[in-house]
Amino acid sequence: MSANSIRAAGAVRGRALCPDPHARRWRLLDDAVLRWGEGGALSAVESARAVEGRGDPLPPVTHPGAVWLPGFVDTHVHFPQTQIIGSASGPLLSWLERSVFPEEARFADDAYAARVAERFCEQLLRQGTTSASIYSSSHPGATHALFEALDRRGLRAEAGLTLMDRGAPDALLRPAEEALEACGALADRWHGHDAGRLRFCVTPRFGLSCTPGLLRGAGRLAEERGLWVQTHISENPRELEATAAAFPAARDYLAVYEDLGLLHARTLLAHCVWLSPSEWDRLSAARAAVTHCPDSNLFLGSGQMPLAEALGRAVRVGLGSDVGAGRSFSLRRAAARAYDASRITGADEGPAALLWLATRGGALATGRGGEVGCLAPGYEADLVCVALPPDLEEPAGLSEDERVELLASRLVFCEDWGGVREVRVRGRRAWAATGEGAGEGR
Ligand code: GUN
Ligand code: ZN
Repeated sequence: MSANSIRAAGAVRGRALCPDPHARRWRLLDDAVLRWGEGGALSAVESARAVEGRGDPLPPVTHPGAVWLPGFVDTHVHFPQTQIIGSASGPLLSWLERSVFPEEARFADDAYAARVAERFCEQLLRQGTTSASIYSSSHPGATHALFEALDRRGLRAEAGLTLMDRGAPDALLRPAEEALEACGALADRWHGHDAGRLRFCVTPRFGLSCTPGLLRGAGRLAEERGLWVQTHISENPRELEATAAAFPAARDYLAVYEDLGLLHARTLLAHCVWLSPSEWDRLSAARAAVTHCPDSNLFLGSGQMPLAEALGRAVRVGLGSDVGAGRSFSLRRAAARAYDASRITGADEGPAALLWLATRGGALATGRGGEVGCLAPGYEADLVCVALPPDLEEPAGLSEDERVELLASRLVFCEDWGGVREVRVRGRRAWAATGEGAGEGR
């Protein structure tokens, strides 16, 4: 039994931002009580006044001045790049060669991998991330160590061994058959673990590091076992040229994955900076999801994903930190960068809509829309509580939408004014700021 399967019913009270399940909007409850049962699912989300009106006891306000919202969903992050954040050797292909591949080679050492996995999980939690889509290294041992740490820390995640059988130093390459066998064994051990909290995800790095045979085998494995697929696409112009040369029969970058059985409703595509209108149309028709990684795109000078192309086609979009090209584990930071990027690409999304992508949008993009990302009965109690300075005044007479936009702007842009206080997954406390009972697991 996983340590995290020991759970108790509980409740928190305070201001709550509740996402609409489908539209990029929120409802604001000024004084809400959120209750969950032993299984960790929310059983009630209601105003304190309604609780009081029934004569029921009211819990004390959990963190005065703070706001509760669904835990952040990081739809794209690299565990073995935790130690190389800010390694300024870009653009993409030279950064991979000079910074990423040498570091990822160190994950052949299981003990090193286990140490970094612990730090990685701590970083996710301290930024309020409760669910993440994670690339491991190409090593089965490191990937197992990652799952063990995720399990221990109570995080929700999909993670995969990064598939590479060409285009990198030998120490990182694993022949297709051996790699896919290792994926099968990892899926046997971890996929669906703890009632679906952990999932194994088929993770070909990108076309340039996989032969067609490995990509085809990855597609087959995902289909046979109903697994999700995550990969990179169309991030950088030099990468596009090299991919076209490596796959001369493919009509464009998307076709590399499309032709080899990797494009479907369980596919999560990272970056999507340079896709053509035809690629956007086909991606949308396949009901694939995308992960927008604006901070990484800035750091590597890749360009920016045209968010309006995705949202205009009702493509599911989540935000990704993309650590280590992204410089922060914070999805609040990712939302702020997405705002900056949307000014450049002409997408008209404000802070509230981008905060929605960082929570509910990510849940939908990763196939967890029925589980998390809403504060309503039936959804699991994956929660983050973020402090805001008590002396930040709100003008009188604002509408609810205006109040939501103001609160969202503060959450997205004013990170240095207030940090994460507490993080819960299925109701269990997974992280708390120092002095607030971190690790008690209540
Ligand atoms: N493309 C292939 N591998 C990577 C990676 O590790 N990071 C980013 N940003 N892009 C990639
Ligand atoms: Zn990435």
